[in-house]
Amino acid sequence: MNITVVGSTNMDLVYLVPHIVKAGETLHSTKHELFFGGKGANQAVTAGQLGADVFFIGNVGKDDYGEKIKRNLQEKGVKISAVQEVGMTGQAIIQLADSGENSIVLFPGANFLVTQEQIEANKERIETSDVLLLQLEIPMPAVDAAANIAAKKNVHIILNPAPAQQISDSLLSKVSILTPNETELEVLTGVKTKNEEDLFQACSLLLQKGVGAVVVTLGEKGSYYLNHNERGHVQANQVEVKDTTGAGDAFNGALAVGLCNGLSLRNSILYASKVAEYVVTQMGAQPTIPSSFRVNK
Ligand code: RIB
Ligand code: NA
Repeated sequence: MNITVVGSTNMDLVYLVPHIVKAGETLHSTKHELFFGGKGANQAVTAGQLGADVFFIGNVGKDDYGEKIKRNLQEKGVKISAVQEVGMTGQAIIQLADSGENSIVLFPGANFLVTQEQIEANKERIETSDVLLLQLEIPMPAVDAAANIAAKKNVHIILNPAPAQQISDSLLSKVSILTPNETELEVLTGVKTKNEEDLFQACSLLLQKGVGAVVVTLGEKGSYYLNHNERGHVQANQVEVKDTTGAGDAFNGALAVGLCNGLSLRNSILYASKVAEYVVTQMGAQPTIPSSFRVNK
């Protein structure tokens, strides 16, 4: 079970607030906490905790946060020899409102300094992976470089197209599983999805571009999936939500682990949903995941 994650690391500065601050308003936060975050690191740490051999390619800053992030990755079973220290560590300033809504100011810092060369220097590790996991918090040329290396050797690519942005047809054609939420799906296809028929239309457009399978995460409505052989809807279980930050990333990390363990697409989605549902019951994007969640206990 060999997974490579190419992507971002952040320190998440979380502020609990009565509501999301409005323009010109000064608001008192009732609690402030620091958590490890970044979509790439969140995926990696999830997969590592679920027992995968995870190699991470990305950057941290040359600062205290950077040191802490590297130590945390290692403690969670992630290999960090390809992590460079450059610039300032990325930060996500997160307001978490009583209603459960959040809003994020993202300072990319070191993440925007991930280069194509850095990816190419780790070519062999990508080529010998079972799965390459990607998201979009690092520059697109670096994402493309990783996808190109993987696609040439038929390494499965899972791409979480977040934060939402346009993606080239060339990159889409290399993706084995694309995992948008509904906002991201709309940005990619122009289709606003109100029901399963819309989801089918939107996902079909992506399959036509060469994506192997699309798994749309729908929050408390579960997820919808489509590939050339099957389509389906996986229901979500009701859980007591504390903090949804990182739930999508955990979903992707667990999806990769499920597939690496030989689970079918549907069973991998069921597995990933269970892991993501656990993560939303805990504060922070990278909570400790009990070992009972491992596929091979
Ligand atoms: O997906 C959640 C992540 O997005 C957070 O951990 C934060 O760092 C932002 O990048
Ligand atoms: Na959480």
